[in-house]
Amino acid sequence: MASPRRRDSGAALAPVPQPQAVLPNEVGMRGNVAVVTGGATGIGRAVAMEFARRGVAVAFNYIDMAGRDIVEQALLTETALRAFGVAVYSAKCDVRDLDAVERFVERVKAELGGIHYLVNNAGIARDAAMWRLGSDQWRDVMDTNVTGAFHCTQAVARLFRAQKMGKIVNIASIQAFHPSFGVAAYAASKAALIGLTRAAAIELGPSHVNVNAVAPGYVRTEALEALPSDVVDRAKKTTVLGRLAEPEDVGNVVVFLCSPEARHITGQVIFVDGGLSIA
Ligand SMILES: NC(=O)c1ccc[n+]([C@@H]2O[C@H](COP(=O)([O-])OP(=O)(O)OC[C@H]3O[C@@H](n4cnc5c(N)ncnc54)[C@H](O)[C@@H]3O)[C@@H](O)[C@H]2O)c1
Repeated sequence: MASPRRRDSGAALAPVPQPQAVLPNEVGMRGNVAVVTGGATGIGRAVAMEFARRGVAVAFNYIDMAGRDIVEQALLTETALRAFGVAVYSAKCDVRDLDAVERFVERVKAELGGIHYLVNNAGIARDAAMWRLGSDQWRDVMDTNVTGAFHCTQAVARLFRAQKMGKIVNIASIQAFHPSFGVAAYAASKAALIGLTRAAAIELGPSHVNVNAVAPGYVRTEALEALPSDVVDRAKKTTVLGRLAEPEDVGNVVVFLCSPEARHITGQVIFVDGGLSIA
């Protein structure tokens, strides 16, 4: 600890800043490896692109979804990522299936040489008034949004603890705090994901692993198109900034939370909602 210096007048000055110890892999992000779940489309793709822009190799997984061209989107995403000159690995892998997640993680380590960042982005919504919501729909949302994130966190935890470095960011939602009508399962799942974020931050903090969540408002993705247009219009008008988020608005914050600049932030939820939560 530096001792305070004194001017001739004898007044105490602030301590002279001393160089801080820098942990291995904290110097920069280039050359590190990120895993983004559900990275083929929307927010996950934007997160993956921002990692790649910073020279981070990217692995992402996805599953097919009815009425969507996820497999084709995955190919496009992979091509766009490679254009940044980074290594890329992508595969179909259902985060609800622990064995599949463990196999995916092992494969990423073999293909890309390690893992330093995990972004639990894979998520679904099954919206219906509570009295109409089937238990299958409830379970689907919980299994994907909460259990899926737990599986992925567990699958990297041993590695992150051993290397004494790692960052985890969970994609929650403003709906965990300010639910709309008909989102009981989704809101409950995102609130549980925030609980998981805090618990994981406590357990992994001693190993220099930061765990945070972002809570986006309404983000312009295909998932948003499934909502009634009057809901989206109202949300846009209510937002303090008067706009919807682009996926990149979320991607930038996620990657910042993985950067060395954010090394003292853990167990937090960062709202990326254009002020919707304060309106
Ligand atoms: N779009 C928004 O307005 C908004 C707002 C707040 C939070 N979010 C959250 O952001 C995340 C991404 O949403 P999006 O809008 O980009 O939607 P999206 O539907 O485009 O992306 C979801 C991705 O997750 C993948 N996925 C779904 N279930 C999976 C599973 N079991 N295993 C592996 N992958 C799976 C899909 O293949 C898809 O690529 C979700 O967690 C969502 O809840 C979105």
